[in-house]
Amino acid sequence: MVRVPRIYKHAIWGSRTTFILAATGSAVGLGNIWKFPYIAGENGGGAFVLMYVFFVCLIGIPIMAAEILLGRRGRANPITAMKKIIHESGNSSIWRLISWAGVLAGFLILSYYSVIAGWALEYVSTALQGGFTDLDGGAAKIAFNNLLADKATLVKWQTVFLAITTLVIIFGVNKGIEVAVRILMPLLFILLITLMVYSAYIGDFAAGASFLFSFRFSDLSFQGAALALGHAFFTLSLGMGAIMAYGSYMPHKTSIIKTAFIVALLDTLVALVAGLAIFPIVFATPGIEPTEGPGLMFISLPVVFGAMPFGLIFGAAFFTLVTLAAWSSTISLLEPAVAYLVERFHFHRLSANLLIASMAWLLGLGSVMSFNDWADFKPFFGMTFFEFIDFITASVLLPLGGLFIAIYVGWFMSLKAVRKELSLDSSVLFKTWFNVLRYVSPVLVLAVLVVSLYGKFAG
Ligand code: PHE
Repeated sequence: MVRVPRIYKHAIWGSRTTFILAATGSAVGLGNIWKFPYIAGENGGGAFVLMYVFFVCLIGIPIMAAEILLGRRGRANPITAMKKIIHESGNSSIWRLISWAGVLAGFLILSYYSVIAGWALEYVSTALQGGFTDLDGGAAKIAFNNLLADKATLVKWQTVFLAITTLVIIFGVNKGIEVAVRILMPLLFILLITLMVYSAYIGDFAAGASFLFSFRFSDLSFQGAALALGHAFFTLSLGMGAIMAYGSYMPHKTSIIKTAFIVALLDTLVALVAGLAIFPIVFATPGIEPTEGPGLMFISLPVVFGAMPFGLIFGAAFFTLVTLAAWSSTISLLEPAVAYLVERFHFHRLSANLLIASMAWLLGLGSVMSFNDWADFKPFFGMTFFEFIDFITASVLLPLGGLFIAIYVGWFMSLKAVRKELSLDSSVLFKTWFNVLRYVSPVLVLAVLVVSLYGKFAG
């Protein structure tokens, strides 16, 4: 009997809206709801927000457009797509490293992201059981530390999280991801806006808004700039395979630059609205500070929820929102590697999924242990395993990936191919984008990267 090889047909999103929902789903995640408010809180509020918006415009949008372009031009998973484009443009195969590093970064992020996202699931269940009622700061801290010490619970939620991610990816691009984001994203927007309105109603909206938007020059720092840059990459899911993979499913008749702009705008709006949902109630609760740090969401907010009217529902809704946002991000972290195994080695989607997800699960155990048994084990430049993987991905691999994507598309890829993919964008838009991508983005990324690495290791 002759074995007919499985012919793989690369999927296309049903419409441009689906691409926007999927890419926004990837972009909006723990970065927006957990990280953004606390790093803005620690770094001067308005000053940080301003730098962040500056980087999104001059680096985020141009590089996102470049990534979508690479994906759509290659019409394949990131690794195969880069191979095809390099061949078409006649470049050295060294450029393929960009896509390898990207897929690796996605996998590494998935391993710890699913652990942290699991905490949100635990908090949904705690909120529903009335666990936040009349909680004070000290008790909230103890509850959080108890969770971190409880390996079995951490692993349980990490497993659930990876399982729901796998569940979506198994059904493929159109029946899995597309259906999921069409339900998840509208739900997420509705929840977020309801939370913000309620928070404005019962909290100190003016204090919250002024904290996020009033800006003092003295608050600007290199350290803050480096964080804002790293965060711009992380929150827009740039510098790795996610946006490239999603771009490869984008319909032809869609303008790339405009779409990148919409996704970045939505992502930034979600971060700001999340801040506006969190800070007014933080300011209205005595003894809780906006500069709390990573514990802002898991320690301060439960106290706030426990003290406010309808806090049980509000708290459960908030952590459900975080879960949904993280879910639509992990989907995009898993997809590139799965698509690669399916397209390159003809894996069945199910087996590719199970393989990558179990590997991410295993590696994630290292992050789980970083919060308990290995908390004092810091062989990685004084960092725990979790901190090290977070640092390598968010502060090194993503900015480096972005830098090389900008240099490749701006200077090395065939201009004819670039122009063809962007033919729907007006020539003014094209020229502006191209010049920013060639001259501004790489210089800025490099400068901030050097300063931040220097600050980390020599400072
Ligand atoms: N953008 C996501 C967030 O802000 C994280 C992410 C990074 C997702 C890279 C995919 C790729 O939480």
